[in-house]
Amino acid sequence: MSASESREQWGSRSGFLLAAVGSAVGLGNMWRFSYLAAENGGAAFVLLYLILTLFVGLPVMLAELAVGRGSGKSPVAALAHFGGAAWKPLGWLFVASGLLILSYYSVIAGWTVRYALAGLVGFGGDAAGYFGEVSKGWDAVAWHLAFMALTVWVVAGGIKGGIEKLALVLMPVLFALVVLLAIYAATLEGGAEGYRYYLSADFSAIWDRKVLSEAAGQAFFSLSLGMGAMLTFASYLHRGHHLPNESLIIGVSDFAVAFIAGLVVFPLIFAFGLQSLVSGSTVGALFITLPTAFNAMGSAGMVVGTLFFAALVVGALTSAVSLLEVVVSSAIDSLGWPRKRAALAAGGLIAALGIPAALDTDVLGLMDQIAGNVFLVLGGLFLAIFVGWVMDDPIAQVSEGAAGVRWFKLWRALLRYVVPVLLAFVLVGSLQATFEAVRAFME
Ligand code: PHE
Repeated sequence: MSASESREQWGSRSGFLLAAVGSAVGLGNMWRFSYLAAENGGAAFVLLYLILTLFVGLPVMLAELAVGRGSGKSPVAALAHFGGAAWKPLGWLFVASGLLILSYYSVIAGWTVRYALAGLVGFGGDAAGYFGEVSKGWDAVAWHLAFMALTVWVVAGGIKGGIEKLALVLMPVLFALVVLLAIYAATLEGGAEGYRYYLSADFSAIWDRKVLSEAAGQAFFSLSLGMGAMLTFASYLHRGHHLPNESLIIGVSDFAVAFIAGLVVFPLIFAFGLQSLVSGSTVGALFITLPTAFNAMGSAGMVVGTLFFAALVVGALTSAVSLLEVVVSSAIDSLGWPRKRAALAAGGLIAALGIPAALDTDVLGLMDQIAGNVFLVLGGLFLAIFVGWVMDDPIAQVSEGAAGVRWFKLWRALLRYVVPVLLAFVLVGSLQATFEAVRAFME
């Protein structure tokens, strides 16, 4: 049996789609999106993020799907398949990004599990104090390790038996919860102010370099692009899939959940007069403001709060498995390890790497800045160049299963000229911001 014959496959189209949407929808949509939108001029940020999702995110998504399905391999081997050994380092960058992102992502996921359970008994009086207590230290380490164990367990179960099964059960729950919460938020008195802030803020912020960089980083982070997650998932696809349609479905679902999450978060914040709490903190924004609002609601807050954090846990888990799968599939292909051993070893390494982030939220913030705004943008930039300029006939790859599509030349032109120039511009700004953040951290 050849390697490709023995390669695992998704069980169904909806299984693949829910797993891919599950990868995209996660803490990025709720935790990261809402604090960045609040920090960067509300609607201006949302608009830029939408534009970048359409003209940069979707073309790169299609590029990742084409490389993954076309090669049927994990990132390092997939890039070598189409570009020769010289492109292997890009694959290793993807693996490094997976290691780095999951290590702190799992810490935040640990907070969400803790909050979902705490919601059942109410969040106590002082939300900021509570966040200070649980967000760092050995407690945070313990929840991070527990979450990693769960992630390893799912990935060890395989593509069909682990990741796909999880997504088929949990993603519908997530959609239902988010919509329910948005409907509830619409009934709050005083929430209108929040919609106004979210949907019609300061548009001059669009011209701010930092807003552009953060919107681009967020588009990549939220769509799970620039580190081979979509590429890896697509490597388990058969040739009948219409890749442009799949990209569109994943992209639209991801934007919809982020947007609806904003419709939950902003009315809550404004209904309870918590604006100052949001601008005052970064990574903790969601974990301080919302519990304060839930506290103020009394017993209704316990129910709503628990559901909210349960939705976050679901989103986090279905994303975490995709991050781990990038590393695991690479270990399976490069080292010839069986899946279970690869999952345990990669998970153990990531669990250890995450401990500094669990001990100190400033470390976590810095890791997120570096991974989200630098690694992913860099990965996306090189992948666009790879598919646009290096790979032999990418249009033939995407055309399989999508015969009627007429805009593939436009797609390739975007990958060749627009995406690299824009991302290079973004990267310069992100690097500056990151150096400043590192300097501030050192002081
Ligand atoms: N897209 C995920 C989220 O929004 C995070 C993620 C990034 C997952 C990169 C995989 C790869 O939470």
